[in-house]
Formats: sequence, C-alpha cells, structure tokens
Amino acid sequence: MKVPFGNLKAHYHEYKKEIDTAVQRVLDSGYFILGPELTKFEKEFEEYLGNGYVSGCANGTDAIYLALMACDVGLGDEVLVVAHTAVPTICAVRMTGAQPVFVDIDVNNYTMDAVDLESKISEKTKAVIPVHLYGQMADMDAIMAVAKKHNLKVIEDCAQSTGALYKGRMAGTIGDFGTFSYYPSKNIGAFGDGGAVSTNSRENYDRLNMLRNYGQSKRYYHDTEGINSRLDEIQAAILSAQLPYVHEWNTRRREIAERYTRGLKDVVVTPQELESSYHVYHLYVVQTNQREELIEFLMDRGVQALIHYPIPAHLQKAYAYLDYKPGSLPATEYVCKRIVSLPMFPELTDEQVDYVIESVKDFFSSRTFAQPKMESHPHAGTQPYEVAINS
Ligand SMILES: Cc1ncc(COP(=O)(O)O)c(C=O)c1O
Repeated sequence: MKVPFGNLKAHYHEYKKEIDTAVQRVLDSGYFILGPELTKFEKEFEEYLGNGYVSGCANGTDAIYLALMACDVGLGDEVLVVAHTAVPTICAVRMTGAQPVFVDIDVNNYTMDAVDLESKISEKTKAVIPVHLYGQMADMDAIMAVAKKHNLKVIEDCAQSTGALYKGRMAGTIGDFGTFSYYPSKNIGAFGDGGAVSTNSRENYDRLNMLRNYGQSKRYYHDTEGINSRLDEIQAAILSAQLPYVHEWNTRRREIAERYTRGLKDVVVTPQELESSYHVYHLYVVQTNQREELIEFLMDRGVQALIHYPIPAHLQKAYAYLDYKPGSLPATEYVCKRIVSLPMFPELTDEQVDYVIESVKDFFSSRTFAQPKMESHPHAGTQPYEVAINS
C-alpha cells in the first residue's frame, strides 16, 4: 500500500464540479482582481469566523507582513515570535525591517510559552506573534494578558489552524489581527497562493485594504505606503466553493487523529489536545528518539513521513546574524530533534491510517532498544514528557 503525505489531485477530483464551475464563472466575467468574488469570499470567511472583518491578500506571509505594517512595526522595533514555526513567519517580520526575538515553546502543545514570552520583552518590543502550530491554538489567555500588560499588538498566525478553537473562540478572532494562509495543502487551500487577515477593528480593516493595494484609498490616491498583495478572483472563487466543506474536513482530520492516537499512544508521544482547545490537525505530529530510522522504515513501507520542522528558525543559516546559540531555546530544540509528521489529509481512508499505524508499530517491535534512561530537561516532569523519553 502507498500512503502519500497529501493528495491534492484526489482532492480536486472529489470537488471537480464545484471548482470547475467557480473557475469558469470568473473566466466568463472578465474580472480578475479585487472584484465580486473576493468580496463574496471575504464576507463568507467573516461569517465562518463569527465576527470581525476579513481582507484577502496574496499569501500567508504577506498576511503577517500586512498586519505588522498596520501596527506600524518597522526598523528598530522588536517582534516576539517562536522559532518553532514555518520560516515564513520570520520572513514576514524581517520584511518590515524589525528584529525577531525568539520565544521558547510549551513542549505539550508546541506553541508559545507565555512565561518565556514575558522574559523576552524589551523597550523595543512592539508586537507578538503566537503561531497556532499544527492546528492547535496557543494559550491565548496567558499571551493576551502579557500583551495587555506591556501594551503589545498581537498577531495570531493562523496559517495552520483555520477552524481551530480556544475556549470556544475561533483562531484569528482573539488578537488584534489573525493571519491565514490558503497554500494548497492547508485546511482550506487555494489552487495557487492565497491569504487573508482578520481583525475586529473597522479602522484596521480599512487600513489593510489600502496597504494591500499600493496604499490607495481610491484609485490613484495613495494615503499610505503600501504593497501589491491581493487574493485574485479565481482563487477567491475556488475558496468560496470549498468553504462549506471545511468543517466536515476538520471533523475528518480529528477522526483520523483519534484513530492514530488510539493505535500509537504506547509507542510514540502522541499529540496533546488541551482541554480548552479544538485541534484541527493540520499536521499529526508524534515524537520519538528514533525518528530518522522510523522515517526511513516508513518510506520502505510506502508511507511518506516528514519533519515540521527539522531546524528551528533561530539556528537556520539565514538568521545566523541574530547570533542565537544552540541551547538558547531548550524546549524548541528538544522537540525539533524528535518530531515526525505522519500523513494527514481528509481523503485518507481508515485502511490507510491503519496501515500507517501497523507500520509504525512494526518498526518499534522490529528492534530492541536499550532501556532508556531519564533525560534531564527544563520542561520535564509532565506525563507526555516522560512517555517521550521511553519512546
Ligand atoms: C505557520 C505558518 N505561517 C506562515 C505561513 C506562510 O504562508 P504562505 O506559504 O501562504 O505564505 C505558513 C505556510 O507555510 C505557515 O505554516
């Protein structure tokens, strides 16, 4: 059996009729940029989020950049952000000229540690970007409390968490801004690049609409410096066609995650779904100290497994000039050496999921490991951590 990491071709063929109709409608209209399809999708996404305003843009990186621009973040400012994220989060900070300052994560949910966050604040800090990684939201109450105390803007990076909830509140509705990526493999994806910014403030929304369109308030009147970052009509129509299915897809992702967890909890560290949280499993990530061998073994079995992400941003060559040393973010560095993402997309069949489970179990039963010893770690002591050491 073959189990790919994703299958966008199968996804298209399942929804071919709706998508083809949407694309044809745009082609027939002759209207390709900032037209009725974008307005329609923005309204629909606002309704999906439940409150606030949505401004479409070209991709999830620009969404963060636009939100930072709307906060007037620039040269000389610092932005607090996790290093355990997709590097585009950091690219967006650097696009403004600001300096990223890295915050460690909570090993249980892979998101920003609010205690470490507070310790990294300086008089230059302007904004904080919690990343709702893998489909689970960060501890927003704790983060918002720190941000409020120090007068910081909060930009939620929701690229991996469309539809996730924290204490009943949707990702992207708690901070000053929420930023979304519609990269094709996301929980809702365009058939190309796409993104959006959400905000509860009408003033911020008007500013975003100008910023994404060369800073124009109306044609040829530039009230502010802006960029070109628009969600085009074809992508907006494709997203509108898919939005009604997102909840169903997220439900299926959760079913698959539950099946994986039931099958694998005794051999690897499975994801922790926090009590207050509705995880939408953009990725299903486990931990083991045998991960390179496991990935190779799975590949031989026809199962594609990946690592999100093998090198944290603060240790990437591109950011060497920031001068972070190994050991500066212990929890981040610990998990980066152990994480493995198993195939996760709504079209996976139960048979494929079971095959992945059996393959992972076969890997562990095919080798005899020396009795693991306890490792010392600043974040050790919680139940999942102890399981981690034994896997
Ligand atoms: C957490 C996170 N932030 C930002 C981005 C950037 O999104 P895009 O690829 O649409 O620019 C991504 C996508 O890879 C992401 O996963």
